[in-house]
Amino acid sequence: MNILIVGSGGREHALGWKIKQSKKVNQLFFAPGNAGTGELGTNLEIGVSDFSSLKKAVLEKNIHLMLVGPEVPLVEGIHDYFSNDPELQHIKVVGPKKHGAMLEGSKDFAKDFMLRHGIPTAKYTTVSKETLADGISFLKTMKAPYVLKADGLAAGKGVLIIDSFEEAARSLEKMLNGQFGEASSKVVIEEFLSGVELSVFVITDGKGYKILPEAKDYKRIGEGDTGLNTGGMGAISPVPFADAEFMGKIENQIIIPTIEGLQKENIEYNGFIFLGLINVGGNPYVIEYNVRMGDPETEAIMLRVKSDFVDLLEGAATGTLVEKNIEIDERATVTVMMVSGGYPGSYEKGKVITGIENVAGSIVFHAGTKTKDGQVVTNGGRIIAVSSYGENKEEALATSYANVNKIDFENKNFRKDLGFDL
Ligand code: AMP
Ligand code: GLY
Repeated sequence: MNILIVGSGGREHALGWKIKQSKKVNQLFFAPGNAGTGELGTNLEIGVSDFSSLKKAVLEKNIHLMLVGPEVPLVEGIHDYFSNDPELQHIKVVGPKKHGAMLEGSKDFAKDFMLRHGIPTAKYTTVSKETLADGISFLKTMKAPYVLKADGLAAGKGVLIIDSFEEAARSLEKMLNGQFGEASSKVVIEEFLSGVELSVFVITDGKGYKILPEAKDYKRIGEGDTGLNTGGMGAISPVPFADAEFMGKIENQIIIPTIEGLQKENIEYNGFIFLGLINVGGNPYVIEYNVRMGDPETEAIMLRVKSDFVDLLEGAATGTLVEKNIEIDERATVTVMMVSGGYPGSYEKGKVITGIENVAGSIVFHAGTKTKDGQVVTNGGRIIAVSSYGENKEEALATSYANVNKIDFENKNFRKDLGFDL
């Protein structure tokens, strides 16, 4: 079958790498893709939110299955667009419809959903401009640090964690007055939870589900988890504290109630559920739902999925996931993200990337790259993910770091301390 992957990051390159290994795949396309995906399949110059051009391409290229990588087109209703169009109804789309995508598209919706279904999460209240005073009263009942979250999508920047009450009250007002545009017209105020975070991934058809390997990602730019939040500086799988008992709690207290909740509320859902979790004294709490795979977690965990991934995607798209098997590689995998100097602040693009051909023993996934005049150049903040296997995380990290040192571009940066906390 012909498959189209929507997106352009390291996640999409890693998904494509895994999908390409399936005997079921004939042609593989990416929209818009990057320099790396262009070597794996065909890049189509179409933005992820340009539904009419995606439609044209899907019909022209005879696509059978479309996998949507990022959250934005899902929240915008790409799946609904396809299933409402008689010409497109036969295409298998992996990714939830608009209603289900609200689990990521609205933090207020997600918190309400968790409350209705008894899923462990931080205490919260949601306020708008009209109820600012209630928000201030709620803040007074909380202890520092204070957690403020823009309700809508804010490209990973909409969460503020603030130490002083006065500053939190000021920030709340600023957010409600449009600091993150429409996304912060509502703000979720949350209790601060203290613990180590992890990412757990589920593929589902809305009834059945399979749990993919879990991972720990490193969001801060600076070593020792300091500095600004990024899209993710690296990932490690498995997560040592996620033993059978802890994973059992996640399945029983979070995954099953989530899927049953979707069913009870008649929310059709297929694709991925990415649980952003925190381990509070041995118990998992949901920090956030995402309705897609994680980036850079995908660049680590695709290496651990042994089963035919296209078979699982078909299972999700056709409601036959219970019939499918998932087999996981026991080895550890890691990914180290190489980023542009200055990221997540401002940075320059267009730097020539050299040395990828010297990499040995790791798998290179491109994130923000493009081809220009026959050369691969930087085209974003996160540039290259270097993924490796190992008998343990130390061995996998050593391999990735050895290869990171072979790849070069002006002002490259990466975290040298991945795994320090595990
Ligand atoms: P989110 O976008 O909701 O994942 O939040 C971004 C980051 O903020 C998370 O990865 C956590 O590190 C942190 N965070 C969010 N909510 C909380 C919370 N209730 N308690 C502690 N940390 C949080
Ligand atoms: N790695 C976190 C995310 O994809 O949102």
